[in-house]
Amino acid sequence: MQVEYNNKQYDIIYDKNNNKYMTPFHNDLFMMKIMINCLEKAQYFIETGLWLGYTSYFVAKNFMNIKCYSCEIDLYCYNIAQNNIGYLDNLKIELIKSPEALYNLNNIYDNDIFNDYIVFWIDAHGNTVCPLNSEINYITSNFKKFTIFIDDFTIPYDKTFTNDGFTIENIIPNINNKDKLKVYMPCYDSTHPDCSNINMVGHPPVGYCIITTENIETYGYLKEINIL
Ligand SMILES: C[S@@+](CC[C@H](N)C(=O)[O-])C[C@H]1O[C@@H](n2cnc3c(N)ncnc32)[C@H](O)[C@@H]1O
Repeated sequence: MQVEYNNKQYDIIYDKNNNKYMTPFHNDLFMMKIMINCLEKAQYFIETGLWLGYTSYFVAKNFMNIKCYSCEIDLYCYNIAQNNIGYLDNLKIELIKSPEALYNLNNIYDNDIFNDYIVFWIDAHGNTVCPLNSEINYITSNFKKFTIFIDDFTIPYDKTFTNDGFTIENIIPNINNKDKLKVYMPCYDSTHPDCSNINMVGHPPVGYCIITTENIETYGYLKEINIL
């Protein structure tokens, strides 16, 4: 099945466990416009927290030139994801936890990865030690060109966006090279039906934070956050 984002058709995954097609990235059309624009320039897409494979499948299937990687700690989720995804040439998934998965990326690919443009979807959390601070610390000290999307983030000025308690105050000490980075959060109308999965799943929009070395296209949907 295909869905349209920004006047273009994209394949989405069929979840064999739930017998339905599933959209990626919470189907927030505002965020997806920014994400797709970043992906069009990226050499790598790195996800932490594969879950059932919805997002990794979407990126790998629709962006065949991007090398995609995801890791999962939970065997049950990993097996479902593998079954949902099947085989895609440009996607590697591993049953391994983050941040160790990130620490090993240059061994899976090669050291050029540190200089290539990477879109990170940081989404590994659950009943485990939260890897977020270690992930941010490692990425911002080792990689040169990246846009990190941290999912489930607290938007301090808009409580309609749901979150898992991740805050900018908590991650700031782990952001390295701050003077080379821009940090953003969404500033669009969080009650707008296009920014959530209201039509397809029915949950409110999910907060996120973007940390980037690049001049990304914000479409006026993002507010810059001062971290210095
Ligand atoms: C919110 S879900 C991810 C959703 C997925 N990224 C997507 O966009 O569809 C979080 C996943 O992270 C996994 N997880 C939790 N801690 C982890 C860790 N340290 N390393 C890797 N995966 C982890 C959980 O088992 C769960 O499947």
